This record gives sequence, structure tokens and C-alpha cells, in this order.
Amino acid sequence: MNIRGVFKAAPLVGADESFAADAIAGLTARPKTLAPKYFYDLAGSALFERITELPEYYPTRCEIAILRDHAAAMASMFPPGAALVEFGSGSSRKARILLGAAATVAAYIPVDISGDFLQQDLTQLERDLPRLFVHPLVADFTKPYAIPAELATLPRVGFFPGSTIGNFEPAEASAFLRHSGDMLGADALLLVGIDLVKDEATLYRAYNDAQGVTAKFNLNLLVRMNRELGADFDLAAFEHRAFFNAAQSRIEMHLVSTKPQRVRVNGIEIGFGRDETIHTENSYKYSVESFQALARGAGWTPVKVFSDGLFAVHALRR
Ligand code: SAH
Ligand code: AVI
Repeated sequence: MNIRGVFKAAPLVGADESFAADAIAGLTARPKTLAPKYFYDLAGSALFERITELPEYYPTRCEIAILRDHAAAMASMFPPGAALVEFGSGSSRKARILLGAAATVAAYIPVDISGDFLQQDLTQLERDLPRLFVHPLVADFTKPYAIPAELATLPRVGFFPGSTIGNFEPAEASAFLRHSGDMLGADALLLVGIDLVKDEATLYRAYNDAQGVTAKFNLNLLVRMNRELGADFDLAAFEHRAFFNAAQSRIEMHLVSTKPQRVRVNGIEIGFGRDETIHTENSYKYSVESFQALARGAGWTPVKVFSDGLFAVHALRR
């Protein structure tokens, strides 16, 4: 059984309005910020896919290898007839590995804010997983959204790969784990992929690739504001900056204004000093122990960790 279509769990008009409101609030704050969820318009999602293929960006390759090596062990923890709910599914490449090993999974619910990207990927998904009930949801997974009623009775397994949970502040990550636990239900299993703390040079290179794809991904936020919010950012007057903040155990990404300038965004004038930045992303890196402590604090019991020393996939039980 298959459903043709992508389901908008959140009204798209609302989503656009909050981009304008969030952009103005973030750009008039000190320091200036913009939430990383806005990276993922169609162009941004495609740039992220290119990042995953860069020689310097090890997390995707590591996680895929871990999933391939341990898919059977992971699938053996699934209850029969489960619904697999994936948060921030992107191209769904990683879920396919799990679904290939977990023959009894009845439904797959990819949740992603990038509606155009989900839409684009749906045909391939249906071709690849013909036996599954596939129900993609366009939603901001930090906000409440409804799981389709037809699937309400199925036991649920959550899947949050890609270290996307590392893009939250630790307190937000904890709140997300707590809420997703409530949504997945008693006894649920949750698989979370998270990047491990490691030497600074490896981390630095992963966010400062030689081809400049990560820089393009970061600068695409300005392209998106120019197009969607009628902004007039001069792309030549901003630079990508990424570095490891060891005290906070996170990579920080910023867009740096290379000169004093004024920019209009949605009719509002924003002033930039030379070297002033927009903080666009944090990518927190955890040890196995620090992530398990976070999960415990949010009501989950760590049951197993699969790791290659660079990246970790945690199995958590409610
Ligand atoms: N899971 C994939 C993609 C990771 S990129 C992988 O591991 O390679 C992060 C994904 O999360 C993107 O597809 C992005 O659109 C989605 N995303 C980011 N913030 C989101 C939010 N608040 N709500 C829903 N999806 C979000
Ligand atoms: C999706 N997220 C986990 C990526 C990361 O590594 O924080 C996004 C990214 N930013 C720069 N490169 C990749």
C-alpha cells in the first residue's frame, strides 16, 4: 500500500511568515543569528547532498558504514509491524539501509522541513520501497505535528541520523528527545546518529572543504533571503567562517561581513560592522558518555551504541 503525495503537516504560508519574522528577529539581535533549519530550501538541500560526498566531510560515510555493518542488529530491536519515523530525512538514504534489513516494518514516515526536496525524492522512494506504506510529512520537527491516524496503532521506532541533533543547543536537544519520546510512545526505540568529539584539525577540515561547497551552503542563506524576503545582500561582501569552539564542544558557522554595510531585508534596514557576523549554525560534538547522559536526562535509557570511533549511532529505549 502506498500513498501518492507529500503531506504538509504545517501550513506552508505559516512557514514562510516565520522565515521573515525569524530573519528580522535574528538579524536585529546582538550577536546576529539565523536558525540552521533555514539552510534547507531546494538549493540548500542539494548543496548539503554535495557536502556529504566531500572527502573532508567524514560523518555521512562513517554513519552509512556503521548502519551497513550493524543493520541486522539494529533491526532485531524493532518491534514487528513498526512504523519507522525519521526526523530530518533529507534524501532518505540512511533509512533505506535500515528498511532493507527490517523486513517487518509496515510504514515509513520521513519528516522534513524541506518540502520541495521530499517531493522530489518521493518517486524514487516509492520505487525502492514498494511494500511499504510511505507517508512523508513536511513539518518543522521542533513544533507539534500530527502522525496520520491510520498509523496511530502501530508501534513506533524513531530514527534521527546525520548528527542533526547536534545542530540544537544541548537544552533544545534534550527537549526534542523528551517530546519525541512522548510522540513515539511507551517502550519506543530511538536510533540517533551523532558526531563524536575528535581532534580539531579533522573537525575544522570537515567544515572548511577545499572545494568551498560548505561556504556555498552557508552563503545560500543570503541567496534565499534575497529571493524570498526581497533582501539585497551583496554576496561578494560576506564570507564563510567555521571553527571549533572547544569550550562548548561545537563547530560554529558564521557569515562574516567584510566591510561596514547596510542591507534591506523584508523592508527593514540592517546595519553590519566590518567583521560582524551572522551566527548561522552550531554543530555540537558529543562523547559517547556525554550523549548518553543527555539522553538519560530526557527520559531515555541507552541500550547499545554502534561506533567506529569517529561517529556514533545510539540505540535508546523509552
Ligand atoms: N538525515 C540526512 C539529512 C541531514 S541534513 C542525513 O543524515 O544525511 C538535515 C536535514 O534535516 C535536512 O534534510 C533538513 O531539511 C532537515 N531539517 C533541519 N531542521 C529541521 C526542522 N526544524 N524540522 C524538520 N526538518 C529539519
Ligand atoms: C545536518 N547537520 C548535522 C550538518 C552538520 O554537520 O552540522 C550540516 C552541515 N553544516 C555544515 N556542513 C554540514
